[in-house]
Amino acid sequence: MSGKTRRKLWSGRFSGETDRLVEVFTASLPFDVRLFDHDIEGSVAHCRMLGRQGIIPPADAERIVEALGEIREEIRSGAFRFVQADEDIHMAVERGLIERIGPAGGKVHTGRSRNDQVSTDMRLYLRAEIGDILDLVAGLQRTFVGLAKREVDTILPGYTHMQKAQPVLLAHYLLAFREMLARDAQRLGECLERVNVMPLGSAALAGTSLPLDRKYTAKLLGFGAVSANSMDAVSDRDFVAEFIFDASLLMMHLSRFCEDLIIWSSGEFGFVEISDAYTTGSSIMPQKKNPDVAELVRAKTGRVYGNLMRMLTVLKGLPMTYNRDLQEDKEPLFDTVDTVKASLMVLIGMAGNLTFNRQRMMEEAAKGFSTATDVAEYLVTKGVPFREAHGIVGRLVAYCIARGKGLEEIPLRELRKFYTGFDDGVYAVIPVKKAVNARSTLGGTAKKEVLKQIERAERTAGGGRRKAMGTS
Ligand code: ARG
Repeated sequence: MSGKTRRKLWSGRFSGETDRLVEVFTASLPFDVRLFDHDIEGSVAHCRMLGRQGIIPPADAERIVEALGEIREEIRSGAFRFVQADEDIHMAVERGLIERIGPAGGKVHTGRSRNDQVSTDMRLYLRAEIGDILDLVAGLQRTFVGLAKREVDTILPGYTHMQKAQPVLLAHYLLAFREMLARDAQRLGECLERVNVMPLGSAALAGTSLPLDRKYTAKLLGFGAVSANSMDAVSDRDFVAEFIFDASLLMMHLSRFCEDLIIWSSGEFGFVEISDAYTTGSSIMPQKKNPDVAELVRAKTGRVYGNLMRMLTVLKGLPMTYNRDLQEDKEPLFDTVDTVKASLMVLIGMAGNLTFNRQRMMEEAAKGFSTATDVAEYLVTKGVPFREAHGIVGRLVAYCIARGKGLEEIPLRELRKFYTGFDDGVYAVIPVKKAVNARSTLGGTAKKEVLKQIERAERTAGGGRRKAMGTS
C-alpha cells in the first residue's frame, strides 16, 4: 500500500488534510478488503440498473461494468495498487474505476451511499459464508451418522453429573450431536432469510430522488427481498449479531463434544484414541499425546462468544441511523466465520478418525450399579409404586456395596429380604445389554430406536446450503 497522500473522493468541502494517524485509525481497508468481490458484484448490479433506468447513459454503465471486472481481476491477482488514503474497499474500487475510465467512473455512486453499500456487501459476504458453513455442518453430521452406524452395538456408560448413570449405545451419544447440529443448521437457515434482504438504494438514510429500480437490482443480486425502510436498512446490523449468536451455539456444541473427547482420551478413561494426525506431543514429556485440537476448539468457543459481546455492545447505544461505529462489525464477523469454518473442518477430520475402545467402555458400563433403575422398573411391573421401588433398590445397592458384590450376584433368597415379590425375572433385567435394549421409548437408547434415528438422519441428510437456499 502506498503512503502517498492523495485527495480523497469526499474532500470537496475540506481545505486541510487528514492527520496521518487519523487516516490509519479510521481505515477499514486492511480488513474490509476481503469484501472486494462482493463490493464489485454489488456495484455491477447497481450500474446495470442505473443504465437500464436511463439514470446514467447505458454506454457509461457498460464501461463501468467492464472496468469493474478488470479491477476485480487485478485485486485477485494482487496487481491492484491500494493507497493509504483509500480508507475502505468501497473508496479503493471507486478510485480505481475513475483512474481507469475517467470521470464517467464517478457515476457508479449515483443514488447510493457507502452506508447502504457496506451493508449490502456484508450481506452478500455473509450469505456466501453461511452457505459454506451449512455445507460443513452437513459434513460433520454425516461424520457423526457414519460413526453411529459403525458403533451401533458399542455400549457406553452414560453419565449425569459426571457420575456413571445408565448404559447407552455409543451410537445414541453420537446421534445426540447430530441433533444439535440439525438445530444449528436450522437456525443458520433462518438467519439466512434475514441476511438475504437488500439495503441498496436506501442511500445515506433517506432514499434518493433518482428513479432507482431497487427490485431489479435485488433480482440481479439474488436477494430474496428489498429492505422496507431506508433508515432501518442503513443502521441495522441485527443480522451480524444474530449470525454470531448462532455461531456461538454451534461452537458450544463442538466444544462439548471436544470436552468429552479430552476426558475420554485420558489414561483414566481410555474410551477413545484420537489419531496421531489430530494430536500433538509434549516438548518435555516423551510419553505424551495431547488432545490439543479438541482443547483449541473448546477455547475458540470463548473467542466467538467474545465476538458476540463486541457486536452487541457496538450496537446498544447507537443513535439512528448510520454511525461509524458500525465499521466495527467487520472484524468480529470475519473472525467468527474463520473460526467456525476452521473448527468444523478440523473436527470432521478428527471425529472421522477416532478409535473407540469398545471393551473398556463395556467394562465401565457394567460397573457402578448402572442398571439399578432397571431393577426398580422391574418392581414397578410387579405393582410396586416407583418411589417404594426406588427405596428398595437403594437399600439393596447399599447391601451389595457393603459386601463388594454386584446386583446379579445376590441370590433370590437374599433379594426377598428386601421385597418378598422378587422372582427369577429380575436377573434378566440386570445385564447391561438387556438394559439398553429395554429403553425403547421414542428417542430412547434401545438399538431399535437408534436404528430409526439413523434411518431418519440418512433420509434428511445432505441439506447443507442447497436446502437452506432453496436451490436444490
Ligand atoms: N468503512 C465504512 C464501514 O465499514 C463504510 C461506510 C462509511 N460510511 C460513511 N458515511 N463514513 O462502515
